[in-house]
Amino acid sequence: MSLLIKNGRIVTAVDDYQADIYIHDSTITVIGKNLVMEAGRVIDAKGKLVIPGGVDPHTHLELPFGGTTTSDTFETGTRAAAHGGTTTIVDFAVQTRGASTLEGLETWHQKAAGKTAIDYGFHMIVTDMPDHRIPEMRRLSDEGVTSYKLFMAYPGVMLSDDATIFRTMRKAGEDGTLVCMHAENGIVIDELVKTALAQGHTAPKYHAVTRPTRLEAEGTHRALAIAEVAQCPVYIVHLSCYDALQEVRAAQARGVMAHAETCPQYLLLDVKAYDEPGFEGAKYVLTPPLREKWNQDELWRGLRGNALHVISTDHCPFCMREQKEQGKDDFSKIPNGGPGIENRMSLIYHYGVRGGHINLNRFVELTSTGPAKIFGLFPKKGTIAVGSDADLVVFDTEHEETISYYNPRTHHMNIDYNAFEGFKVKGFTDTVVSRGKIVIDRMEYVGRPGDGRFIKRGPYGGLYSNQDAGAVTEPPASVAGSGSPPRAA
Ligand code: URP
Ligand code: ZN
Ligand code: ZN
Repeated sequence: MSLLIKNGRIVTAVDDYQADIYIHDSTITVIGKNLVMEAGRVIDAKGKLVIPGGVDPHTHLELPFGGTTTSDTFETGTRAAAHGGTTTIVDFAVQTRGASTLEGLETWHQKAAGKTAIDYGFHMIVTDMPDHRIPEMRRLSDEGVTSYKLFMAYPGVMLSDDATIFRTMRKAGEDGTLVCMHAENGIVIDELVKTALAQGHTAPKYHAVTRPTRLEAEGTHRALAIAEVAQCPVYIVHLSCYDALQEVRAAQARGVMAHAETCPQYLLLDVKAYDEPGFEGAKYVLTPPLREKWNQDELWRGLRGNALHVISTDHCPFCMREQKEQGKDDFSKIPNGGPGIENRMSLIYHYGVRGGHINLNRFVELTSTGPAKIFGLFPKKGTIAVGSDADLVVFDTEHEETISYYNPRTHHMNIDYNAFEGFKVKGFTDTVVSRGKIVIDRMEYVGRPGDGRFIKRGPYGGLYSNQDAGAVTEPPASVAGSGSPPRAA
């Protein structure tokens, strides 16, 4: 199988040049000017960008949550992702509380195997980690699951106490793996929720009222402090606001191995969405909630200045009908989450690059290269280079669409609304190659369930080099986080 992509403008996180790309089987084998080579298929990318396939490290497909299950399966969700120019996802497998993490991994393998349109990996959501389970973590990383997610929110369901967080982080750091953190003080939030309901505040907007930014900042601060002492790289997921961003900046400034992502919903939607009439605000009941609009400029600033390293989607779709409706009379019963796996690349290209917030290289870095590096996928994924997987997007910067549930070109997700309804974008995925196979051909899906494969990820490969080799062998000279001497003025 061979494929030649001619005349494209190749853009990676660091390059921008005109060349042809030759693909043999699943791999990029030649990049050069005016290539003359026999190929099974030639794609003319003249006038278009050729960028690395998007890497979305935060999706929830077929996730049982909030008394229901996310509405996209591995089949429908990855097909929608492919339409939008994403060629790899890292989804969250879940440990049932009290059971083995390896059993959780097996359950998620069964859900995904043979179903996906694009490649996928798994993080492991840890719900408990007693001492006797710690050795499982090494086995998970041997299986290519090299990151964990822990929750400071959702008491009684997902929440981990600080001891569990510390134990998990300490071992993750030793293994050269990474801990993702849902950083919100769920204990205090539950008190606020109880008070709101007792006062008769049942509408969707109280989801936001009861989750103030300070409680996200507190969780973020605590996660970073524990990671600092545990000497573990940490990745704050779905960071939504300036208050939490400041905590990340402060930790990075003192040398904590801290990464953070934000998502299109926090960059483009705001708290006013909860004022939509009737029960419509439930569409935006996701966690953390949408924030006051001024936070958006701060998040863009964080993305530009490298305090934030990734734009993921946190795709966690629940239909309005029958699913979100569970919370018609009580906002706390609305399953938390929203859709986005399909529209990320267009939204960030249009509102980020065209909007003047980030340049083209940074667009690629935030949506592909950055997550590929942090989550141990690089350089197979996340770039265009000889030897890399041929995961490529021919992106048409002139193609305009209005994102809508009713627009068959912009909505393939299995959910009955689009959170970005009515958003206009100029810049759209035209053709997608996934490990050498065309899966989207001029906006038409031409792939099959099972085209995608499980990717065993390598160790943490982000910014901080002392974890690259895996185990930390030397004891630290002093306990990290024990403070530093004041600097001379
Ligand atoms: O609202 C959200 N984000 N639901 C998904 C679960 C999570 O916390 O990521
Ligand atoms: Zn979360
Ligand atoms: Zn999530």
